[in-house]
Amino acid sequence: MVKTRIIKLENPSAPTSADREALREAGEIIQKGGLVAFPTETVYGLGGDALNPASSKAIYAAKGRPSDNPLIVHIADLQDAGRVADMSRPEAMLLAKRFWPGPMTLVLPALDTVPRETTGGLDTVAVRMPSDPTAAELIRRAGGFVAAPSANLSGRPSPTDAEHVIQDLEGRVDAIIDGGDNPIGLESTIVDLTVEDPMILRPGYITPEMLSEALGKKVELDPAILSMAADAKPKAPGMKYRHYAPKGSLTIVKGNPKTVVAKINELLADAAKAGKKTGVIATKELALGYKADVIYCIGSAGDEAEVGHNLYRILRKMDDEGVEVICSEAFADSGFGKAVMNRLRKAAGGEMIEVS
Ligand code: TXA
Ligand code: MG
Repeated sequence: MVKTRIIKLENPSAPTSADREALREAGEIIQKGGLVAFPTETVYGLGGDALNPASSKAIYAAKGRPSDNPLIVHIADLQDAGRVADMSRPEAMLLAKRFWPGPMTLVLPALDTVPRETTGGLDTVAVRMPSDPTAAELIRRAGGFVAAPSANLSGRPSPTDAEHVIQDLEGRVDAIIDGGDNPIGLESTIVDLTVEDPMILRPGYITPEMLSEALGKKVELDPAILSMAADAKPKAPGMKYRHYAPKGSLTIVKGNPKTVVAKINELLADAAKAGKKTGVIATKELALGYKADVIYCIGSAGDEAEVGHNLYRILRKMDDEGVEVICSEAFADSGFGKAVMNRLRKAAGGEMIEVS
């Protein structure tokens, strides 16, 4: 157990001078080999010095994460990408200039500056430049290269506010920077640039359409992500673990609205009869139609950004309330909705019922 310092920022979107002083101290902790959890525009990260092998080992230990699952190296200035990765391929600069700072991670050939402890033993490295001003300031103060997985214990949903990080990591890290709620709420889009045709290894806020438009050719998703088959081998090692899992069982029901409500109520009635605590993840439009112990409204059916923003928070609330049987509606899966449905399906361990 370490004593975890909680640093509450006065103004995370435009750090005040007191905030900057706190971030300077937090950066120093990382430079000395310590761990600091911090907000980004996607989810909270658990940061350590990406160029220090001992820091990467400490990150794996704090998270309880398998060490073959590589970490993302976070930078604050575009020119720093070339100090950890081979940026010579034209698409790398093109995408970096278009979408950085922002919720996109590029997988590139790794330079020798990056310890293999950080890359999970791979010769490729994932690099991201977050847009969150707190994150950028911390990264600069930490020396420019911060390895950061999502700041959850392995297997839990990624944290989207500081309270979640405190639940998972208090006593395991040196400091937690409280910058409030993360605007996007789902992890960055990962794009593999080590293969001939750039491929999306994890869908996120930067959509396939946006990437295709920028590159002038169609960018596909890793087929293993879409298949959900047990033997599918996604290329991002982290996508193979059963992630984002709530403690209760989760079933997704897809179909036309009336039938979905009826089917979910039927499943929940069975669970209630068996003495289980029940919960529903519902759109605003249908929320009033359910009978369950707890009903969480995730947002409007057509508003993918709102649904994505609330997903992890609601999965955690289901855990906090001890819900044993959870049913969720399926949501639109175009654009950013692809990322939402990818995370929801992973949380459900692939369980989806289609009704007509
Ligand atoms: O939005 C995000 O990306 C957040 C915030 C904190 O920046 N970070 C994040 O990190 O989601 P993490 O460690 O939870 O997820 C990183 C994913 C994993 O699935 C990992 O396997 C994949 O990136 N990854 C990292 N390096 C890779 C590489 N060289 N090749 C393929 N996949 C890689
Ligand atoms: Mg994660």
